[in-house]
Amino acid sequence: MKSFVEKLEALKKEKNAVILAHFYQVPEIQDIADYVGDSLGLSQQALNTKAEIILFAGVHFMAETAKILNPAKKVLLPDLNAGCSLADSCPPEEFRKFREHYPDHVVISYINCSAQIKTMSDVICTSGNALKIVESFPKEQPIIFAPDKNLGGYINAQTGRNMVLWNGSCEVHDIIKAEAVIRLKTENPGAMLIAHPECKAVILELADFIGSTTALLNYTGKSNAKKFIVATETGILHQMRKNSPEKEFVIVPTDEHCSCNDCPYMKMNTLEKVYNCLLHEQPEIKLSKSVIEKANKPILRMLKLSE
Ligand code: 13P
Ligand code: SF4
Repeated sequence: MKSFVEKLEALKKEKNAVILAHFYQVPEIQDIADYVGDSLGLSQQALNTKAEIILFAGVHFMAETAKILNPAKKVLLPDLNAGCSLADSCPPEEFRKFREHYPDHVVISYINCSAQIKTMSDVICTSGNALKIVESFPKEQPIIFAPDKNLGGYINAQTGRNMVLWNGSCEVHDIIKAEAVIRLKTENPGAMLIAHPECKAVILELADFIGSTTALLNYTGKSNAKKFIVATETGILHQMRKNSPEKEFVIVPTDEHCSCNDCPYMKMNTLEKVYNCLLHEQPEIKLSKSVIEKANKPILRMLKLSE
């Protein structure tokens, strides 16, 4: 009997489909993907693919972004319940009212937000290009940054700006505690602490390197260090270990009872769901024409600024 992997390979060819996967997916999904990357890389791939079907092994806002960039294509997500706590921390109606208090501000939204929030944004950013996107505006331009207060605070600190921050966060990164990081640093002398900017400022202040998942992966490959303490979601360890098998990676525990930082939404996808999704061509992402037209502009603006 053929394995899911073999059956998926055949289905991909037959249907002219591409599988795009985020680094937080389980290893077996990363291994069958045509491309594995961070949110920026995934959007660039979605924009440029020639495939007729895009199967997005990630969470809802990522597949939505792919659909906004490809209205004529079929975009599939193995589990429609794979949401994102950060995107959910910014309900569109509350954000609409919030924005009305700042009529002279431009809105920069982190890609981890719903399509509705994107329609209310001037430009989108990811953790990989947030600094560049913010710096593309003159220093005196007032800015609202949504929805991640940790990434926004980090960019404020980097640029000396005072962007108004929406009070949102990611439940996986925001829960990482400084005590756990300090204990691991003491237990692993010489190890480099690398952190995703969705972590709290107190963690970022301790970090030797801060970056998107792709930037963290590249850093571990290039660095001379032999050991890394990793403050982000566990999925990224798969590529880090593949890339640098001789190096050691220690994930920062979220609390004393749990040593795993699994994003419950990312981990809803399984190889079996991916297979069934491509076989039946559903669940499919559907968006109204007007949402696509409005949300498309700030995403394309980001991609243009990132060239
Ligand atoms: P990046 O992979 O773009 O760094 O984003 C991480 C993330 O939170 C995805 O949900
Ligand atoms: Fe959302 Fe956080 Fe999960 Fe990323 S890790 S998908 S930001 S909940």
